Amino acid sequence: MSELSVKHLLGIKYINKDDINLIFETADHFKEVINRSIKKVPSLRDITIANLFFENSTRTRLSFELAEKRLSADVVNFSASSSSVKKGETLIDTVNNILSMKVDMVVMRHSNPGASIFLSKHINASIINAGDGAHEHPTQALLDSYSIREQFGEVAGKNILIVGDILHSRVALSNIFALKKLGANVKVCGPKTLIPKHITSLGVTVELNLKKALEWCDVANMLRVQNERMDISYFPTTREYTQQFGLNKKILDSLDKEIIIMHPGPINRGVEITSDVADSKQAIILNQVENGVAIRMAVLYLLASKLQKNEN
Ligand code: CP
Repeated sequence: MSELSVKHLLGIKYINKDDINLIFETADHFKEVINRSIKKVPSLRDITIANLFFENSTRTRLSFELAEKRLSADVVNFSASSSSVKKGETLIDTVNNILSMKVDMVVMRHSNPGASIFLSKHINASIINAGDGAHEHPTQALLDSYSIREQFGEVAGKNILIVGDILHSRVALSNIFALKKLGANVKVCGPKTLIPKHITSLGVTVELNLKKALEWCDVANMLRVQNERMDISYFPTTREYTQQFGLNKKILDSLDKEIIIMHPGPINRGVEITSDVADSKQAIILNQVENGVAIRMAVLYLLASKLQKNEN
């Protein structure tokens, strides 16, 4: 397969295993490119990309911008906090104004689940979802699975544990879709109140005891508690959360094997993970960030190729 089955990347739910493997193979090439002394290629020289961030971001935003620049695209950046959205402009009006400036691709982060799906139905540009509320964060899941593939050679058959606030996490949902499509075994762990009741219908198992869950896994992906998406308390105190679901060196060292530790960031050190674990040799958190650039280059390149093919 040499092209993606989709015109947009709206979620992992909407792509297939062949799409994911094509993105990984393309990312292998771009990872080699970004480690050369000359890190730039002319692949997207005629493409203009708008990064629309209606919600805060550090990693995703920088990673997309770097990926676009490494591919020689023209890039415009939009941040809701400094835009006319503050004056009451709607999402569709904002985007239509930006598209009038002849933008080919839109990378969008928005707090509303489904915002990028909505946009894809109203505009012709290729849309990449950079995180929509508690729904999906597809490029994060791709870079996470790619990082697991890099560690083990393949994702199929590996035991992957996702720990924390599963209920509010777009990273958890996109990871579950990606890992299951790639043939991994997936377990989630966290307070019962932060695990959606329907989660087992996605083919994952649930373990409420962190030590037991860690003993099962090859990789533990530790998630942040998404306080910004909570309107009520889901657990008594942060201290109790950390005692039951925080990963520290003592638990890690008590396991009879060395597991890989992942975190999508931003990290709340001392809450879901202690500093000595986050900075340990077992943690691949910064490898994930590096892989994020290669994965986003691959996604941009493959979607742009599709766009150019449809135009010809
Ligand atoms: N992992 C992630 O999405 O981080 P940012 O919110 O900083 O983009």
